[in-house]
Amino acid sequence: MSKTVTYSSVAKKIIMSLAGLFLTSFLVIHLLINLLILFDKSLELFNQAAHFMATNPLIQTFQYVLFFGFILHIILGVVLQIQNWAARPVRYERKGSSEQSYFSKFMIHTGAIVFIFLIIHFANFFVKAKFGHIEPITYDSGTYENLGQLVVMLFSDGAYVIFYVIAILLLGFHLEHGFQSAFQSLGLNHSRYTPFIKGVGTVFSILVTLGFIAIPLVIYISF
Ligand code: HEM
Repeated sequence: MSKTVTYSSVAKKIIMSLAGLFLTSFLVIHLLINLLILFDKSLELFNQAAHFMATNPLIQTFQYVLFFGFILHIILGVVLQIQNWAARPVRYERKGSSEQSYFSKFMIHTGAIVFIFLIIHFANFFVKAKFGHIEPITYDSGTYENLGQLVVMLFSDGAYVIFYVIAILLLGFHLEHGFQSAFQSLGLNHSRYTPFIKGVGTVFSILVTLGFIAIPLVIYISF
C-alpha cells in the first residue's frame, strides 16, 4: 500500500471519528428530550422542549452541522469499508482467526441498518414536524405543536415498537465498538487508558440503548 493511500485513510478515519463523536453528543441531547415524554404524561415538558429546539436560531444552525456530520460519517464509513475489502480480498477462512472484536466486524452492517432506520425515522417525525401540520395544544405555559402526541400515536402500533427496539439495539452495537474505535483513530491508544475508554464506551452504549428502547416500550405498555 502506498504512503499516500495510508495517510489519506488515516485522515478519513480521524474525520469520521470526530463526526461520530459529534453525533454521539447529539444522541445524548435527543435522548434526554425524548425521555421527558415518560416523565410527564401531559406531554407539556416534551412539547415545550421540542418547541424550543425548533425555534432557537442557534439550534437550527446546529441542525445543518448535524446533517453534514451524518453525511460525512456515512460516506467516509462506506469508502473506508470498500478500501478495506479491496485491500483484503480473501476473507478469513476460520471464525475467530482475526483480532477484531465481535461488534467491530459488523460496523458496516449495523451502520447500514441504522441508516435505513434514520430514513424511516425522518419520515415519521422530522418531515411531519417541519413540513406537515401538527395539531396545536394549549397549556398554562402557552400553545405548542403537539409533537408528543405524534410520538405516542406512532408507538401505539406494536409493529413500530418492534422495529424501533431492533434498530436501537443495533445502534447500541454500533456505538459500543464505535466509541472506543474513535479514540483509537484519534491516536489515544494507551495500555492504561484504552481499557478505561472501552469501559466508558460500553456503559455509555448500554445506557443510551436502554434509554431509547424504554420510550417506545413504556408508551406502548402504559400510555
Ligand atoms: C424512541 C426513540 C426516539 C424518539 C421518540 C425520537 C423522536 C424524534 C422526534 C419527535 C423528532 C423530530 C424533532 C423535530 O424535528 O422537531 C426526531 C428527529 C430526529 N431524530 Fe429521533 N427519536 C428517537 C430515536 C432516535 C435515534 C435512535 C436516532 C439516531 C440514530 C435519532 C435521530 C434523529 C435525528 C437525526 C433527527 C432530526 C434532527 C432533529 O430534528 O433534531 N432519533 N426524533
